[in-house]
Amino acid sequence: MNANIDEFIAGLPKAELHLHLEGSLEPEQMFEFARRNDIDIPYTSIAEVKAAYQFSKLQDFLDIYYMGMNVLQTEQDFFDLTAAYLRKVAAENTRHVEVFFDPQGHTERGISFKTAITGIHNALTQVGGELGVSFKLIMCFLRHLDEASAIKTLNQAKPFKHLLTGVGLDSSELGNPPEKFEIVFKMAKDQGYKLVAHAGEEGPVEYVYDTLDLLNVDRIDHGNRCMDDAILVARIAKQKIALTVCPLSNLKLQVVTDMTKHPIKAMLESGIIATINSDDPAYFGGYMNDNYRSVAHPLNLSIAELTLLAKNSFIGSFLPQAAIDKHVAAIDDYAASFKF
Ligand code: ADE
Ligand code: ZN
Repeated sequence: MNANIDEFIAGLPKAELHLHLEGSLEPEQMFEFARRNDIDIPYTSIAEVKAAYQFSKLQDFLDIYYMGMNVLQTEQDFFDLTAAYLRKVAAENTRHVEVFFDPQGHTERGISFKTAITGIHNALTQVGGELGVSFKLIMCFLRHLDEASAIKTLNQAKPFKHLLTGVGLDSSELGNPPEKFEIVFKMAKDQGYKLVAHAGEEGPVEYVYDTLDLLNVDRIDHGNRCMDDAILVARIAKQKIALTVCPLSNLKLQVVTDMTKHPIKAMLESGIIATINSDDPAYFGGYMNDNYRSVAHPLNLSIAELTLLAKNSFIGSFLPQAAIDKHVAAIDDYAASFKF
């Protein structure tokens, strides 16, 4: 039965709604880009890189993540990074991706907004097109920087607005509450962007309320801590705010102590549109199917629950309704024809 569940997950059509492209930088690629761009990295072997990926909290990871992205220098690097990610997820039956990038992580070290977005978008269009993976692109503001820097980034994005669907908010949550970004989120909404934000990953339940009330987001990234508050859970379910949950990330960053305590099942039982995603797969030990499997077994998720998670990934996406309906129907067909 367990092997069958893994097979079921592997073939399940799915969408990924929470993926930082810079977090898909595999150690092998880090060395390759460092070599071709003549950039120093503080590691001498792949094993040494992997050994460094031990985190007790979000900030431990972020320090290494920002160091890692220094190797991304040229449009070709951003193209290759994005192409490699798409090939991996397409092989896992991921049919649609809504991916993040961190423009300030690049512009702050002298790489232009244009270099990053052009490389990424060309790969999404060309390689995504070849693989049959559709996409939306979302730029995130770094919350450890000030709002003026986020506004500057929103202005830099203007010539590329047609390539972008949304804006998001990521990086160090604690001490950088949603209210810090109220103005820039309002500006982005007025410009027609969809809005998402990381909330309730490490931050308290109040940050989730403020993300809804002050930032007016369409979707919440993570949202684990909302489970501490029954009123908030009911509200998120009622307002159909999808949560983009990342199980292996939660384990690696010690947001959960073990997978038997992961809230994804309780989220589904509460009627929340919960989805499964990989966040930063090169750092957290797995892409989409690994993330599904990581909770399926410890939580004894049923076929109906796994099917619902896959449907939610399209229902919570920014695709037009007709495309969502088509993907949901494909999931129903797949589940109906799967032989256990
Ligand atoms: N940037 C990349 N991954 C992140 C995460 N899990 N939380 C906040 N910021 C991030
Ligand atoms: Zn994230």
